Parts: sequence; C-alpha cells; structure tokens
Amino acid sequence: MCGIIGYTGPLSARKILLEGLSQLEYRGYDSAGIACVEDGAAVRVTKTTGKVAELKKLCQNDREETHCGIGHTRWATHGGVTRENAHPHQAGRVTLIHNGIIENYHQLTKEYHLEGKLVSQTDSEVAAWVLDSLYDGDPKAAIRRFVEKLEGSYGFCILFADRPGEIYAIRRVSPLVAAYTRAGSIIASDLTALIPYTKKYMVVPEDQIVKLTPYQVRVFDLDGRETQPEILEVNWDTDAAMKNGFPHFMLKEIHEQPEALKNTILPRISKGMPDFSDDGIPDEVFKQCSQVHIVACGTAMHAGMVARALMEPLLRVPVSVSIASEFRYEDPLIDEKTLTIIISQSGETIDTLAAMRLAKEAGSKTLAVVNVKGSTIARESDFVLYTHAGPEIAVASTKAYSVQLAALYLIICRMAYVRGKMSGEESAAFVKDLLDVIPAMEAMIRRKEEIRQMVRPLVEKPDAFFIGRNLDYAFSLEGALKLKEISYIHADAYAAGELKHGTIALISDEVPVIAIATQERIFAKSISNVREVKARGAYVILITKESAQADENLADVHIHIPDVHDRFTVFPIAVVLQLIAYYASLLKGLDVDQPRNLAKSVTVE
Ligand code: F6R
Repeated sequence: MCGIIGYTGPLSARKILLEGLSQLEYRGYDSAGIACVEDGAAVRVTKTTGKVAELKKLCQNDREETHCGIGHTRWATHGGVTRENAHPHQAGRVTLIHNGIIENYHQLTKEYHLEGKLVSQTDSEVAAWVLDSLYDGDPKAAIRRFVEKLEGSYGFCILFADRPGEIYAIRRVSPLVAAYTRAGSIIASDLTALIPYTKKYMVVPEDQIVKLTPYQVRVFDLDGRETQPEILEVNWDTDAAMKNGFPHFMLKEIHEQPEALKNTILPRISKGMPDFSDDGIPDEVFKQCSQVHIVACGTAMHAGMVARALMEPLLRVPVSVSIASEFRYEDPLIDEKTLTIIISQSGETIDTLAAMRLAKEAGSKTLAVVNVKGSTIARESDFVLYTHAGPEIAVASTKAYSVQLAALYLIICRMAYVRGKMSGEESAAFVKDLLDVIPAMEAMIRRKEEIRQMVRPLVEKPDAFFIGRNLDYAFSLEGALKLKEISYIHADAYAAGELKHGTIALISDEVPVIAIATQERIFAKSISNVREVKARGAYVILITKESAQADENLADVHIHIPDVHDRFTVFPIAVVLQLIAYYASLLKGLDVDQPRNLAKSVTVE
C-alpha cells in the first residue's frame, strides 16, 4: 500500500525521489520520508507525517548534493501516524524502506533483543535491526540470511552505510519494478514513478536480490547466481499519469472512459464477435467449465456482481461472486472443471492474489481481468485479459470499473457463443449493443453540470441509500461505495424489494434515496419501491432509461439515461453514480483523489 522509490545516478537524487513520491502518493499518504547519501557516505533521513507536500517543505533548503537515495509514502499498518513510524528506518549501518507486513516481528524483537533499541512501533524498524545484525560487509549474503528470518510480505529498498551509491532491494508479494535508464538506475513500487525516465522496465522477481548502481541494475537469485528478468515495455506515457487540465484525476478518469472502453473492446472484435486468440485464451476454457467463481475486492467485486447477474441466467451454469478476503474461509467447492475469474485493476491486491492461488491449488483454471501489465496476478494466472484503461491514479476507481465490465461482457458473449447459448447473430448483436454504450457514456459525461446541481441536497445529509433490483441492485452497490469513500456520507445499497424487511425503518425526510430502475421486466416493481420510500418522506433521485414511463411527480429529481439495451445500462449508470460521488466530495470540500484512510493498492491483508 505504501509507495517506494529508489534512485542512484548522475542527477539530483533528492529531486527525483520527491517527484517520484508525488507520483506515488496515491498508494499511501499518512507520512513520507527520504534517505539520501550525502557528503560521500553519510545517510541523511528526512521524514514527516502528512503528505509529500510537507516533506517537500522540509527539504526545500537542503543544498547538499546527493546522487543516491530512497523514498517512501506510508499507509499505516503497524503503529500510528507519527514521525517515528514514518520510513525510512535506520538501524546501525542499515537504512531501509518497506512495503508490506512482517508477521513475525514480535518473535524477531525477542530473538534479537531489540526492546530497548526501537524508536518506532513498526515491524519495518524491527526488520532494519535484524538486517543490521546479519550484515558483515556482504549485502547479498546478509539479505539472503535476512529473508530466511522473515514471515509475511515485503518490498524493501536498502542502503548500507559503507556502500554509497548502491541500493539493494528484495520483495515477496509486494510489488517492485526497476529500470536502468540514461538518467541512472531507478526502482519503485509502481510504474508511474518510472515512466518520466523510461518506458522499459523489469518486474523484480520475487525472492531475488536487486543491486542498483549508477551504471546498471543487476539481479541475483538467493544462491548468488545472476538472473536476467524479462524487460517489458509500457504502452502509455507521462501524460496519462497527469491531470492534463482537469482539477482532479477522478474527473479526468471519468472522462477517459469512452476511450478506455474502445481500447479494451475493439482489438478483441473479429468479424463482429469477441475473439481472444491474441490474448491466448482458448475456447476450451469456456466450453469445459461446469461452474464459475468470480473473485475480487471492492469495485472490482461489484463489476463481478454485474457479470454474475448476466452470466448465470444466460449460460445456465452456477456462477458465484466472492469477496476475495472471504473466499479462502468459505471452503469453496473447486475442482478442475471450475473456472475462476479474478478481477483486479492493480493486479496486486493481496487478498485477490491469495484467493487466486487457492483456486489454482485446488485445480481450477484461472482467468484474470487485470489493468496493470506484468502485475503479480497477471503473471500467475493461467490466462489474462488485460483491460486497457491506462494508469488509474484517483483512489476511487472509475475507468477501471467500466473496462472490467467491458472485458466481462466480452467473456460472457464468447462463453455463451461457444457453449451454444447464443447464435453467431445474437453474439454479433450483443457486441453491437456493447459498442452502443460508448456514445451513451459520452452523453452522460456531457451532462455533468446537471448532476452537480442535483447533488447539492445530498451533501447536507449524513446518510443515503441506493436501491435497485437485479442488475440495478448490482449497480447500486458500486454507487454506494463510490459515495461513501470520497464524500464520507454513509451510504448503503439495498435490493429494493428487501427494504421493507427492516431498512425502511430508517427512511425519513432526512434520508435521500437514489433509486435505479433500468430493467424493463421489473420496472413496475422497482417503481412501487420508489413510491414506498417517497411516501416516507425521502428525497428521491430516480434514474431510468429515457423511454421509461414514470410519473413525473414520483421523484424529486429524475435522471434519464440513453435508451441502451437493458443488459448494458450499467455503463451510462456508472458515469452518473461516479459523478454523484465526485460532486458530493467536491461540494463538501474534501480531497477527491486521496480520501482519508485509503490507498490505491491494497497489498496487505
Ligand atoms: C474503490 C476501489 C477499491 C478497489 C479494490 C480492488 O473505488 O478502488 O474498492 O476496487 O481495492 O482493487 P484492485 O482492483 O486493484 O484489485
């Protein structure tokens, strides 16, 4: 969850680290710090609570030249948000930054008699002291012995006081990418910090030691043999990770959705049908399975809920959706005829990764829908369907959600076709309907001002409910998550028919209700539920298709989305729900892109 960067080379390390930390801040923003090798060899640590801007202020008068250093933005796990707990941590000759959790830090504290030495409450400082006590002048040997002692997940970047100009790194689970560039050698938890310098990079292999010097990046396995990790290339540039005139990344990313959808769908259409030959996914994967598990977290899981609502009735095979952190404990029924679809924007979410590993071990085929190329989930899955959303920087997921849906819709269509549940003609019509959502999304984006006005009454209230039936219920879940995570308004989603089994007790004129009714076959029932909440005084925002016949006095605000086919309404609806959350956060004066307590990539359990 934390952001990590290391640099050694001819340029100013301080400048590169601080700029890199700004790029990585979305990974964690409780506190930030850097350690720079100054004056030949002395390692100087500057760290503070708060955002990278605070750290920049602290560093603004530092004039000492420095060409090697490491930097960190923290998302607190062990120990509160204090300067002592911020990284880098120093222990004797070792200075390090860490992303992950060292689970056995208690035992290590006892084993190495560290009680009196620790100045922080972090597992990372314990790790630094353990490494220092194992260090006898040979960094690789010390790191090898060090990782034998550790249980948990980690990405470490390490400076040894007697090795100026060198950075060592190792990871297990937590991501690290590295590159040698004309500007020097650079390592980071995330590509966004690397792309200003290079498009070519390597994913640091797990349990291998990386040594960065100003002239090269070398990688060794734990037996000391040099390895040659594959060099990958990113297909987006720095522009994609900038706001480009938008006030927030979130708004920019909402606007990018139509283009991202085209990038995800169009290369996979051949003769009007979805075709995954270039992705290396054979039809047998879809033909042979007798059940489907969909596993993901948060927004990605909500995309899975939409897919399930379409998939099971169409394919007539059992389809379940699980929250990844629960999947392991559900003792799921898995066999070699199970297809597990894993959904993850980052491809690094630890719970999702663990769930995928469990499914694989139990014999399931795994198909990952992932945005970040070369991420752990993408590498470990049997098959990958990359979404092409480009980097998503705002913590609240928007474009990643719509491209996940687009990829899932393509899967559903191909699966229905190869299983004989849709004819060629029906599949081509499905694809055409899918492409029709692109102008529908554009139309909703153009209407953002209307949505801004409509949100005003919402922001004065502490609670909100989202209601809908069937597919509309699946969309509601995402609407509620979006609103709560960036506006801090307590929001919950309910299956509209379930409301009167308890929750309607909470409805009053103080509680706005966002009702989604886009499915024709249950429209009348959904509208009855809207009447029920209206009768209890709720301020109702109703979202329907343009052609839907609803009494104009039914709702306080009525938003019409374009008339796309019922199966596809999620795409324009997603835009509306994202804009509701965006403007609610904006009108409350909150930090839209970096809401409190959150981080973009959840790499701890
Ligand atoms: C919410 C949000 C999160 C993520 C979740 C999974 O806006 O972004 O709920 O969807 O943390 O992340 P990925 O998709 O990276 O596995």
